[in-house]
Amino acid sequence: MFGTRYRMGGVAFTALGALAVAGVFTLGAGSASACEECKGKFEVDGKKSGYLYSNPSTQAMEDDDFDNPGMLWVEKGRKLWAKKDGKANKSCQDCHGAPEKMRGVYPVYPKYDPKTKKLINIEQRINRCRTEKMQAKPWKWDKDNLLGVTALIGYVSRGLPVNVKIDGPAKPFFEKGKAFYYQRRGQLDMACKHCHEDNAGKYIRADFISEGRGGGNFPTYRLKWQKLGSLHRRFKGCNKQVRAKPYKQGADEYVNLELFVKWRTNGLPVEVPGVRR
Ligand code: HEC
Ligand code: HEC
Repeated sequence: MFGTRYRMGGVAFTALGALAVAGVFTLGAGSASACEECKGKFEVDGKKSGYLYSNPSTQAMEDDDFDNPGMLWVEKGRKLWAKKDGKANKSCQDCHGAPEKMRGVYPVYPKYDPKTKKLINIEQRINRCRTEKMQAKPWKWDKDNLLGVTALIGYVSRGLPVNVKIDGPAKPFFEKGKAFYYQRRGQLDMACKHCHEDNAGKYIRADFISEGRGGGNFPTYRLKWQKLGSLHRRFKGCNKQVRAKPYKQGADEYVNLELFVKWRTNGLPVEVPGVRR
């Protein structure tokens, strides 16, 4: 495979070790930071949130709740939270009280679920309550209702550090997520690491690459999507960029990867709903 030439967006380049040489990645002007104060908030132990790789105008949108389009989903989530549904005719509120009671939940998911003996993430946790506690239909991934309530649960934890556990029964799943992250895949034969560890702060075509620490900002509003989207949707996009077959949102592979990505984000603050290009 070494030295094989591929075409990406009309630009031929060489895969594997010759990436940098072939010039797929170009140096950027450095990550933009709107303010010193934000820098302190979004850079912890040398880890930088994607916020610091965003344009100042995108950062400003995230900072101001009135400008942040993701807040529309949070508000939608709030309405759904209080709405009775399913054969049990119960709302989330009936059992859990105010959404603010969920503060502290978002930073620790995905976690090991003794019931299924695998990991469970926030979206799946919400749907478990819908099916088992409310006898309602599960919500579909990346539909406004599931995005809204997931965003609400993230939003009430804003500012708290991401803090997933990777020991105990979660360990084998973490290891699988880690292996996924470092595995080369797709026609371009690239792993997550090749962009987000080796080339953060550089451009791949028009895209400025961040460290991929997306454990604190999803669901995120993407200007490109013109809507909020899940972390798993982002994974699909990153898989497609290297022409690898993406998995479905909610696939075990992605939940394991989510734990690894969230662990890479440990210590950075929750910033849901994030805004990204
Ligand atoms: C009939 C009561 C009931 C309803 C209605 C209900 N839940 Fe739950 N939920 C629970 C219980 C009980 C738990 C604790 C774990 C368990 O028993 O499964 C829980 C756990 C959770 C958790 C995990 C909390 C943690 O600390 O890890 C989340 C998130 C959650 N529910 C969200 C929701 C959402 C969102 C809704 C509405 C769509 C909802 N629940 C509706 C009873 C309910
Ligand atoms: C070919 C380069 C490339 C590869 C390989 C790649 N990504 Fe990305 N990824 C990007 C670009 C470009 C973006 C958008 C800009 C940014 O946030 O880095 C992005 C964004 C992300 C984000 C969102 C960060 C944020 O702050 O919102 C996450 C999380 C992410 N990638 C994870 C992954 C994972 C996990 C893999 C491996 C399955 C992967 N990426 C593989 C290029 C890549």
